[in-house]
Amino acid sequence: MSKILNILITGASSGIGLSLAREYLKQGHKVFALARSAEKLAALHAEYPEQVIKLVADVSQLDQVNRVKNQIVEQTAYIDLLILNAGTCEYIDANHFSSSVFSRVDSVNWRGNHHCLEIFLPLLMAAKDYSRTPHLVGVSSLAAILPLPRSESYGASKVAFEYLLKSLQVDLYSQGLRMTIVRPGFVDTPLTQANDFDMPFITSSEKAAEIIVKGITAHKHLVQFPAPLVYAMKLIALLPFALQKRVLQKVVRA
Ligand SMILES: NC(=O)c1ccc[n+]([C@@H]2O[C@H](COP(=O)([O-])OP(=O)(O)OC[C@H]3O[C@@H](n4cnc5c(N)ncnc54)[C@H](OP(=O)(O)O)[C@@H]3O)[C@@H](O)[C@H]2O)c1
Repeated sequence: MSKILNILITGASSGIGLSLAREYLKQGHKVFALARSAEKLAALHAEYPEQVIKLVADVSQLDQVNRVKNQIVEQTAYIDLLILNAGTCEYIDANHFSSSVFSRVDSVNWRGNHHCLEIFLPLLMAAKDYSRTPHLVGVSSLAAILPLPRSESYGASKVAFEYLLKSLQVDLYSQGLRMTIVRPGFVDTPLTQANDFDMPFITSSEKAAEIIVKGITAHKHLVQFPAPLVYAMKLIALLPFALQKRVLQKVVRA
């Protein structure tokens, strides 16, 4: 390993975020692990006491995100890699449309990311002052490719997040910001363990983290997997919407 990176991962207490944290910890980097579950973060810290800094915060609460910033600046003046991964998923019953589902999903997947960007982006961009390249990673979903059944809230939050990230990249590219958008397919995590439908080509969170870290290290703009699902979805996306809707209503349905 050439140099030790300061890596901040949101949603590092379980699933993909935890596996990403472990992958980077194995490589010897310093990980600022953010989540609400103090106990789960403490368990990770106990495994890697020299490398893990626990940031207990709810991303939907700007004051909580702002508070943990102090813990970061006590340790470092900059972050090399900011991975916005914290997320939640709730499906919609289109016949009983509920705005409260949108509020809950948006509070993490949308506003949570705004809060993290407001507080952490300056620390990320500060990396340039130390001759390092700031790298922002957003964990989206393959759901961003197509309008999937019952995904009105979840899918829209991911599409909006991707737009935000790309727009930010346009603004800050000339200032040296590097960006990767990650679109996982189904990954076996507590989030998907609640799903009551078939999940084709489901991947373990360890394998997902391996693919994501490889993509980030290669400075890819887009990391999407698994390949068979990506190709199938891209093929459907080429169809006119009149045909898409007929195909899609038959898939990923309870
Ligand atoms: N699993 C999949 O199949 C899949 C597919 C595509 C995309 N993704 C995306 O991958 C990301 C990670 O999902 P996952 O499957 O790994 O889910 P997960 O195991 O449920 O992990 C979600 C992480 O987000 C954190 N989190 C949730 N709400 C939070 C909040 N308000 N404040 C701070 N942290 C919060 C959780 O920690 P606490 O509960 O401790 O706060 C946890 O660490 C999400 O953005 C998800 O949309 C997942």
